Amino acid sequence: MNINRLFFTAVAVFATVFLTRMSASGSSPIQSSSQDKPTQAFFRLCSDCHDADRIVSNRRTRAGWEEVLAKMVDKGATGSDQDFELVLYYLLSHYGQVNVNKSPAEEIQVVLGLTQKDVDAIAAYRKANGDIKDFDALLKVPGIDADKIDKLKDNREAILF
Ligand code: HEC
Repeated sequence: MNINRLFFTAVAVFATVFLTRMSASGSSPIQSSSQDKPTQAFFRLCSDCHDADRIVSNRRTRAGWEEVLAKMVDKGATGSDQDFELVLYYLLSHYGQVNVNKSPAEEIQVVLGLTQKDVDAIAAYRKANGDIKDFDALLKVPGIDADKIDKLKDNREAILF
């Protein structure tokens, strides 16, 4: 698969994402079990040439992970389009980074493990008040599941403002 093709298919990733989520035994992406399809795809495609630990030492945005995947295809990583979509989903849901003011709603959902209702609340807040300034402001968005956001405290680098 060539790089352009990879970028093209990555656009379709979120279709896969929601199907995957439904088959991932209801767990949130951030805590998904080691048995789910994205995790399997990640270990199958990404552990031949180097340690998985080294790969995920940094959180990255979707664009950042897409760049890495394109580079790995260049280095010789192989898999089907769907495999790469699953790997991208795995990377984003476990080691993603997202801008809560600028990124598409689906991406915010995937990276932060939020529901449609949560991202709708974020969108409504932004419309009324402008950008969310920081973590504390995100916690106070009316209608958002604050407990869920609070659990992201230790993963703050996942959230860009
Ligand atoms: C065919 C061998 C091969 C496979 C398979 C492979 N990689 Fe790599 N990867 C490499 C090599 C070689 C490097 C070192 C390249 C470099 O640093 O320029 C590397 C480096 C990396 C880095 C560090 C890159 C950086 O810019 O710092 C990341 C992240 C990474 N790989 C992720 C992945 C992911 C995710 C997968 C699964 C899709 C994967 N790799 C599969 C060969 C591979």
